[in-house]
Amino acid sequence: MILILLGPPGAGKGTQAKLLSLEYGVPHISTGDMFRDHKARGTKIGREIQAIMDAGGLVTDEITNAMVKDRLARPDVRQGFLLDGYPRTTAQAEYLERELRSTGQKIDRVVSYEVPEELVVERISGRRSCPKCGAVYHVISNPPRRGALCDRDGATLVQRDDDRPENVKKRMQEYADKTWPLKRFYQDRKLVAEVEGVGTPEGILAATRAALEGRA
Ligand code: AP5
Repeated sequence: MILILLGPPGAGKGTQAKLLSLEYGVPHISTGDMFRDHKARGTKIGREIQAIMDAGGLVTDEITNAMVKDRLARPDVRQGFLLDGYPRTTAQAEYLERELRSTGQKIDRVVSYEVPEELVVERISGRRSCPKCGAVYHVISNPPRRGALCDRDGATLVQRDDDRPENVKKRMQEYADKTWPLKRFYQDRKLVAEVEGVGTPEGILAATRAALEGRA
């Protein structure tokens, strides 16, 4: 199964992607996580994208598509995969379509999470992440057990640079200008399943499952 998760920054795509990946047994591919990993390791890509990403802008299509192409060449994607945060522009969506066509694959479904803007802002402002293992928390809805320390490895949790209010504004604008039109792109291909992204993660997972299995 090849799935794409669409939705604004902070919609809960990463949270749902982790749950869906376990549920359907396919790898979770997050371009945001991959870029954060490059930044943390100080690779050439990491140095190139640091400023753009921290300010809430989009990395170029060229860098992003090349990174995704490499990832999709790995053997674990043979039974399918789940894309979170990619594609994000029409050029990326067209590129993905061409790449998949060339290997005889196709997208099965595009889940579009519908979340009101005020809730998205609340989720982003309370998000804290582990710089060591990438675990994601929320100060109110999913707090760590001990202070500001990761439950898994005890590292001190941090706020993402792009989660600061001035950068969130830029990310929202980028989303509205460049990513929102993808919903139409995939609606034209009859692939979109809309899911209300409000409620508990487990409730949203159940709604996603129902939408994917045609019960919604
Ligand atoms: P990326 O990491 O993809 O960021 P994003 O799309 O802005 O999404 P977020 O990670 O902010 O949110 P999410 O929807 O995953 O929500 P989450 O589950 O964490 O990209 C970051 C940057 O990388 C981009 O700005 C860009 O620079 C670059 N980039 C990445 N891909 C790119 C591409 N294709 N092209 C160009 N550039 C690219 O949830 C948010 C919070 O809410 C968490 O704290 C969570 O615990 C909490 N939460 C989640 N669900 C619930 C719930 N149901 N109830 C209560 N709390 C909840």
